[in-house]
Amino acid sequence: MAKVEVDLSSIPEGKNVIIKWRGKPVFIRHRTPDEIMEANKVDISKLRDPQPDAERVKKPEWLVMLGICTHLGCVPIGEAGDYGGWFCPCHGSHYDISGRIRKGPAPLNLEIPEYEFPEEGKLVIG
Ligand code: FES
Repeated sequence: MAKVEVDLSSIPEGKNVIIKWRGKPVFIRHRTPDEIMEANKVDISKLRDPQPDAERVKKPEWLVMLGICTHLGCVPIGEAGDYGGWFCPCHGSHYDISGRIRKGPAPLNLEIPEYEFPEEGKLVIG
């Protein structure tokens, strides 16, 4: 199973990067303290795919997810949409700063791949 290693020191707070893993885009966001707070204050009972932020991250400052819209598979755009996260332009799905679906036709939150932090500043996906 192919793994990809990412040096996290090259991703400043408040920035997204997209890497390729097994031919798929993976979004990595270095979240700010405000974004982490925002992600945690959402009432999950109101979500289409209810999931607390804590279940979607291993470290609150690092959000790692597949960049594939759960509607029909387009690649959402970062720092866009009505919920401060990602927006899929194909049919208008809005994802929040935890990658959870908030508005539009997508049925599920952006998927979280297998990953780990083997040491400080390093991320391994897969
Ligand atoms: Fe993203 Fe349809 S593929 S909204």
